[in-house]
Amino acid sequence: MPSRPAGARPGPGAGADFPDDFLWGSATSAHQVEGGNTNNDWWDFEHDPATAARESSGDAIDHFHRYFEDFALLSALGHNAHRLSLEWSRIEPAPGEFSRAALAHYRRVLTALRDEGLTAFATLHHFTRPRWFAARGGWLAPDAAATFGRYCARVTAELGDLMPYVCTINEPQMIALHGYLEGYHPPGVTNPILWKRAGDALLEAHHTAVSAVRATSDAQVGLAVQLPLLAPAREDDACVAFCEAMRYEIVDRYLDGVDGDWLGVQYYRKQWVDPSSPTRFAAPPPGTPLTQMGWAVHPDGLRQMLHRAARASLPLYVTENGIATTDDAERADYLATHLAALAQARAEGVDVRGYLHWSAFDNFEWSEGYRPRFGLIAVDRDTFTRTPKPSAYAYARVARTGRLDA
Ligand code: NOJ
Repeated sequence: MPSRPAGARPGPGAGADFPDDFLWGSATSAHQVEGGNTNNDWWDFEHDPATAARESSGDAIDHFHRYFEDFALLSALGHNAHRLSLEWSRIEPAPGEFSRAALAHYRRVLTALRDEGLTAFATLHHFTRPRWFAARGGWLAPDAAATFGRYCARVTAELGDLMPYVCTINEPQMIALHGYLEGYHPPGVTNPILWKRAGDALLEAHHTAVSAVRATSDAQVGLAVQLPLLAPAREDDACVAFCEAMRYEIVDRYLDGVDGDWLGVQYYRKQWVDPSSPTRFAAPPPGTPLTQMGWAVHPDGLRQMLHRAARASLPLYVTENGIATTDDAERADYLATHLAALAQARAEGVDVRGYLHWSAFDNFEWSEGYRPRFGLIAVDRDTFTRTPKPSAYAYARVARTGRLDA
């Protein structure tokens, strides 16, 4: 486990940009890679023609059965850490009823990670809720935090010995924003009041989960937040003030509300905020190069948002950063420029201790289905054959040497 004191500068000399104990890896989440997660609210959303979802997750990339070879491949690619999530609906298929088989499965998964020399970052909730939890009102149910805490306590009591890092909730702000204001994630609600209530409920659930994890294990517990670089679409006072308000609602209140031992920063893009837009966001300025997701690439935003995240006074890990593209040279460039921004933030004194690229594999991108390609490793959807892309080898060289010019 890294032991560098908070705020320390990059380590060993010899021209390395990153210290020897820096964690290098990639990230996935259960529903996006496992396959066959049929007992959660996303499965229902995917199969409802009235929702924004384009296609079913189906077998995903069959990681549920192939985790062993997947971890061996990541280890061979120079990774020393890996972020994954545990599927709540498998572990607790009915309220208070825990599956011994699912817990035993995740014990095998986490053991395989350890045996491959990959430090585990295990997320307890990454976007999918058991069907029964959603049916009882999801995050807005009065006992949501307690119910989530019960699940977290059970998982860390049983598996905490294999979980050096536990993340309670992945991107609570995006669960609230996409699920309760924009409506393109479940429960598909578009209501500004419920958006804010969902944010409150998710922060409460995070706090309850932190207590549950601490009471049952020695894991380092944290939270993963997405931190987009927000800018006003215009410089008029109303637009600037609206951007400030959005920054508080999406970013700062989560940085101020985090409790834990570490903070995960997830950074993808710059976004422009516009009070006159029905979505609250404006399209990127004409001519801005866009990814398959329509997102604007802006590497210095990672440096800026790491500085902003430092206000939480916790060790930071980049728990997601990546690009959806079919042009792998573009991915290699995105990686190089964002790692340079990360190295710069460290040189400026920000305590960042690891980088987990999104994603290890091409996978199920929620409402967008399988079209966006975020992976370092391609997956044939018929045969499930894994093929590392050139960017995976470029990343391996940086991970092995700690040098950006490797
Ligand atoms: C954030 C989410 O955590 C992850 O599930 C998603 O695939 C990526 N961003 C890319 O959109």
